Parts: sequence; structure tokens; C-alpha cells
Amino acid sequence: MTPTTDSTEHPNEQPAPLLQASGISKRFAGLMALADVSIQVGAGETVAVIGPNGAGKSTLFNCLSGVLRADRGTVTFDGQRLESLGPTQRSRLGIARTFQRIELFGGMTVRDHLMVAERARSGRGGLWSDLFRSSKPTEEEYARCQAVLDLLGLDDVEDRSADSLSLGKGRLVELGRALMCEPRLLFLDEPSSGLDRNETEEMSLALETVQREHGTAVVLIEHDVPMVQRLATRIYVLDYGSLIASGNTMDVLEDEVVRAAYLGVAT
Ligand SMILES: Nc1ncnc2c1ncn2[C@@H]1O[C@H](COP(=O)(O)OP(=O)(O)OP(=O)(O)O)[C@@H](O)[C@H]1O
Ligand SMILES: [Mg+2]
Repeated sequence: MTPTTDSTEHPNEQPAPLLQASGISKRFAGLMALADVSIQVGAGETVAVIGPNGAGKSTLFNCLSGVLRADRGTVTFDGQRLESLGPTQRSRLGIARTFQRIELFGGMTVRDHLMVAERARSGRGGLWSDLFRSSKPTEEEYARCQAVLDLLGLDDVEDRSADSLSLGKGRLVELGRALMCEPRLLFLDEPSSGLDRNETEEMSLALETVQREHGTAVVLIEHDVPMVQRLATRIYVLDYGSLIASGNTMDVLEDEVVRAAYLGVAT
């Protein structure tokens, strides 16, 4: 009989996660910022990382995106080990991130922010100073920027300089810049930080559109609990550098240890 590759032969076999980080530890001088932290993210899945200030959330992102080198632990993305790769190499594999503090260039327009990211992705970017003087965007580059501007509702501010934007629009530009590399995995460090209710709603809608239209996996650091409930199916909780809980969103938010540590609710 001819051997078959039908997956029903192994009904209990789970597909490998898109991202698997195991035993990540990071020390800053005397401070254990991360202690043996493991997380996994499936393709197209959105998970949240929550925890009090100083818990190690941004440090975890820095270790996973290659900005910092972990002292210990392994990171596998789509079957490939990442420990020896820097942020640019990881981004070329399809990992993008936004930063907790907004990092836009004041005098540059929204469209140019996306164009620089597009050039970095395609390897066409030279020095930023000569980028726009020496080579005009190709039609394809223009179309790729336009698609992201449309997706995020930024087309009406495309020619505005970043320093004239509201914080809400600025954070959407940061998201757009991350999306230009067509990531399969997106790390978002507090995308609603400093935003008012309307802007937070706009950000949540944009992230739902990204999930729906691109199937991008997302790891979301976020203090806004309604936003976490809306977007994430699972949560990891960090406290003093250690994972104190993980599981389905509602189960974790109702967990008494989590409520005491993070939400400040007496048990
Ligand atoms: N580069 C660094 N050098 C030394 N200590 C650092 C560095 N980066 C972070 N830390 C420390 O590591 C701990 C974890 O910081 P981290 O920024 O990861 O926390 P966080 O969970 O993101 O907090 P927040 O909610 O305030 O953003 C903190 O005590 C912080 O002061
Ligand atoms: Mg942080």
C-alpha cells in the first residue's frame, strides 16, 4: 500500500508554534529583569503580555526582537533559531515591532516614514539623506505604501509631517511602518499608551483589520484591559521578571493572584 501523508493519521499532532521562546533570562547588573520566561505564539494568533511597571515586558520584547541579547534561553521562529540574529535580520524574516515611546522623525511626512521602511525591507535604502533626492519611489513602492495608508485610515494625513500629528495618528504611523515589512509576527509595546478613548478605539479597530486582512500574529503589551480582552485570546502575566500566570484571556483576568499582582485588587 502507498504510504499516505494524510494528517488525520496523527490526530493529536499540534502544528509547531510560529514563535517559541524558551527559558529567556536577562540580568541588568544586580537586577534579574527576566527569569526563565517561556512564551509561544501560533500563526495568526494574538496574545497579550501584561504585568505591573518594571515587570520586564519591554525587556522581553527587546530580547525577542534582537535589540538585546538574552543571557539564556532559545528563540525559534518558523523553525529557525534566532539567538545569533540581530534586529534587522529578524525583521527580514518577518518580525516587526513598535516601541513604547513613540519614535517618529518630526519633519518627515507620514508617507516618507512608510517609504523609508519599504526601502529598508527591500534593501534599496541608502543613506536617508539621499534617499528622496536621488531616487523616486517606484510604482510598486508607491502602491505598497498606499495600501498601508488605506488600511490604517492615514491617507488624509499622508503629506503631513509627523510633528503635526496627534499622538493617536502618530501611533498609527508607527504601526504602519512596522506593517511595511509584511510581518508574520508583530510585537506591539503599549500601542494605546497616552491615547484617549477615541484614539484607543481607532487603534483597536486598526489592529482588528490587520488581524482579519493579513492574519498577522501579534504579541501585545498593553495596560488597557478592555483592549486586551477585545484583541487577545491568551495572556501571559509577568511580575518581577517571572511568569506568574498564562492561559485564556478571561481565565487569566479572573485569576486572583493576577488580580492582586497586576490589577491591584485585594483577594
Ligand atoms: N537597559 C537597562 N539597563 C538597566 N536596567 C534596565 C534596562 N532596561 C530595563 N531595565 C530594568 O529592568 C526592569 C524591567 O524593565 P522593563 O522596561 O522591561 O519593564 P516593563 O514591564 O516594560 O515596564 P513598564 O510597564 O513601565 O513599561 C526594570 O526594573 C527596569 O528598570
Ligand atoms: Mg515597558
